Amino acid sequence: MKHRTLGTSGLEVSIVGLGTDTFSRRRVDKQTVNEIIGAASDMGITLIDTAYLYGGGDSEEFIGSAIAGRRDEFVIATKGGHHAHGIPNRVNLTRQLESSLKRLNTDYVDLYQVHVLYNATFPMEEMMQTLNDMVRSGKVRYVGLSNIYCWQLCRCNDLAEFHGWDRAISVQQHYHMFEREVESDVSQYCQWAGVGILPFFPLGCGLLAGRYTRGEEPPKDSRAGSGRGGSTRYFDYYGTKAGYDTIEALEEFARARGHTPAQLAIAWLLHRPMVSSVIAGVSKLSQLEDNVGAAEWDLTPDELKELNHLIGAPRRPVPTSWEWTDRELDRVLPSYHPDYDPLEPGV
Ligand SMILES: NC(=O)c1ccc[n+]([C@@H]2O[C@H](COP(=O)([O-])OP(=O)(O)OC[C@H]3O[C@@H](n4cnc5c(N)ncnc54)[C@H](OP(=O)(O)O)[C@@H]3O)[C@@H](O)[C@H]2O)c1
Repeated sequence: MKHRTLGTSGLEVSIVGLGTDTFSRRRVDKQTVNEIIGAASDMGITLIDTAYLYGGGDSEEFIGSAIAGRRDEFVIATKGGHHAHGIPNRVNLTRQLESSLKRLNTDYVDLYQVHVLYNATFPMEEMMQTLNDMVRSGKVRYVGLSNIYCWQLCRCNDLAEFHGWDRAISVQQHYHMFEREVESDVSQYCQWAGVGILPFFPLGCGLLAGRYTRGEEPPKDSRAGSGRGGSTRYFDYYGTKAGYDTIEALEEFARARGHTPAQLAIAWLLHRPMVSSVIAGVSKLSQLEDNVGAAEWDLTPDELKELNHLIGAPRRPVPTSWEWTDRELDRVLPSYHPDYDPLEPGV
């Protein structure tokens, strides 16, 4: 397993991590979590991402039990500050961190992330000061943010710098082959400021991993089939005819090279700027065994170029990301965005 630092911080993480949103007594039970985490450790996976609200607390509790006796082998990233439970102020964040530490059965977390910040009115200075105090107390080693607009991320880190507080070393954003909005600003700030990106929904909740087949009912034990996680709208949004055309082309691309679609989705993200680790979620051990294979797949520049053509242009306008600067964007955009009005018309 290869490792990278999270941004320019000193925190080292395995490039394939483990997302644990599925861990709960209703889906992936304690026994299975034990097996998955044991196997993850054997495969060299160190980064485990969770949150105080995943599985109503089950995710942290199951992880805490699975890592007992070998806590220091893992980089545990958890989150507080979900808007479902109030604003990310000192009172809420402190209470949430304490409850996470109890469930995880540890006295520190490696990375503490504020979960959702798409709200212009949260008390930013108080939040950053509270996070800094957590680091000073030894209960948190590094600070991360998540679901955040670029201006908020800049402002949070500028405030931290101004006061001499710990800044965010990482950000979790919705990011996968079909969802590249992050590339239009957040990832450029991250590159400038040395902030690592941890993409969430890296497999498009399974769509990019070959979990679903066009025209067939979703498997009963799958996220879409079990109707859990409020995912119906998500699958409707990406699982269109055009979506499946691309999914099938990507699958063919991966299989032709002796790989799986999940490995392709992960390997592709690992080639995006500032992505430090890919925390794909799993519901079975076999999925983890598959996903870990991505760590050994280095896509070539020609393959990355071909993939850009297969994926098509990002859905959101004006992506200023790296590969799109050679005017390919101008050429492909109009067919994807009939209403797109570029400042500089394409060729
Ligand atoms: N910061 C945030 O707001 C936020 C939001 C969402 C997620 N996250 C984090 O990001 C992690 C990843 O996101 P996610 O788990 O929601 O979505 P994801 O990684 O895009 O998709 C995970 C799902 O894909 C399927 N899958 C995984 N490996 C597979 C394989 N090799 N072959 C076929 N199918 C495979 C499984 O579906 P089935 O379950 O159907 O088997 C699995 O549950 C989460 O676990 C969580 O830690 C953070």
